[in-house]
Amino acid sequence: MILLLGATGYIGQAFALELSRRGVPFRAVSRSEVDYTRFEPLLVLLRTLKPEFLVNCAGYTGKPNVDACETAQADTLLGNTLLPQTIAHACAAAGIPWGHVSSGCIYTGAKVLGEAGELHVEPDLTQAAVLERILAQRDRVHGFTETDPPNFSFRSPPCSFYSGTKALGEEAMTGVGHSYIWRLRIPFDEFDSPRNYLSKVQRYAKVYDNVNSISHRADFARACLDCWAQRVPWGIYNVTNPGWVTTREVVARVQKHIAPDREFLFWQNDAEFYQVAAKTPRSNCVLDSTKLTAAGIHIRPVEEALEESLRNWQPEK
Ligand SMILES: NC(=O)c1ccc[n+]([C@@H]2O[C@H](COP(=O)([O-])OP(=O)(O)OC[C@H]3O[C@@H](n4cnc5c(N)ncnc54)[C@H](OP(=O)(O)O)[C@@H]3O)[C@@H](O)[C@H]2O)c1
Repeated sequence: MILLLGATGYIGQAFALELSRRGVPFRAVSRSEVDYTRFEPLLVLLRTLKPEFLVNCAGYTGKPNVDACETAQADTLLGNTLLPQTIAHACAAAGIPWGHVSSGCIYTGAKVLGEAGELHVEPDLTQAAVLERILAQRDRVHGFTETDPPNFSFRSPPCSFYSGTKALGEEAMTGVGHSYIWRLRIPFDEFDSPRNYLSKVQRYAKVYDNVNSISHRADFARACLDCWAQRVPWGIYNVTNPGWVTTREVVARVQKHIAPDREFLFWQNDAEFYQVAAKTPRSNCVLDSTKLTAAGIHIRPVEEALEESLRNWQPEK
């Protein structure tokens, strides 16, 4: 049996659905039932239920967006740093392996191959000249790998408070027991929802053009559960659909499939975006998911996942 924490959340729901689809027995526990954010109740729960594996989808994401974490710093720290540390120690004490949903938002930019053949980090892909250059030479853009240290974290500022706590959360659980760290990035799928990236893009008054690797929600849950099912080596995995997209490319696909007459407005530049629409810095980054696929876990390319989501779009009722 698998123990699922955070099953009431946006990502947890996808895990619950996938476990049900596979016929894998699981037990979803909410904080309203057991306060799993505290060590003792969690350890009692683990010793009582004796799950073979635990999946942690619980965490603190600011709503409606990451700016909310700047004013709820204690909750953000508790949910994203202290919680994974607590789970790591409780699981180690009970001898239970586990997987944690982390985030790719601990990076900014991408690694770009220069003219002399050297890879350098380009931390801000929004600059018009940089964007133009990488769009003309897409094969020069490489994602951050699991061995690259986070460059959008408390150790490598500036960062948002949310990103800082996610990076610290990874540190806090590393070396304790056996676990997977699964990095999710900007979830999307075919189900219209305020949490879906494809819905957000349509609901913004103005869109922020950027470059990102992104994760189809069900693909993400499937890939993470496959890590456990196939017993791939413990450690960190970037779980994004291979490739990257600009927001303009996403908007073009949205127009093609579901909103042909809709006109989209874009923020002129970062200065305007941060002055009007955002408080804390945003992470935008390209991740390399080769480690995941090399471990034998299939995850379809981002273009395919986007096309299918938009072709099967289901508006919110
Ligand atoms: N959604 C995204 O865009 C995104 C992107 C990258 C990474 N992530 C990560 O994915 C994980 C799940 O995110 P999500 O979008 O599914 O979040 P969500 O919808 O807000 O759900 C999170 C769940 O965590 C539990 N929880 C435990 N401690 C909490 C706290 N202090 N405050 C609020 N909820 C708490 C709650 O479940 P119970 O109270 O029922 O136990 C809640 O339903 C998080 O770690 C997040 O950082 C999310």
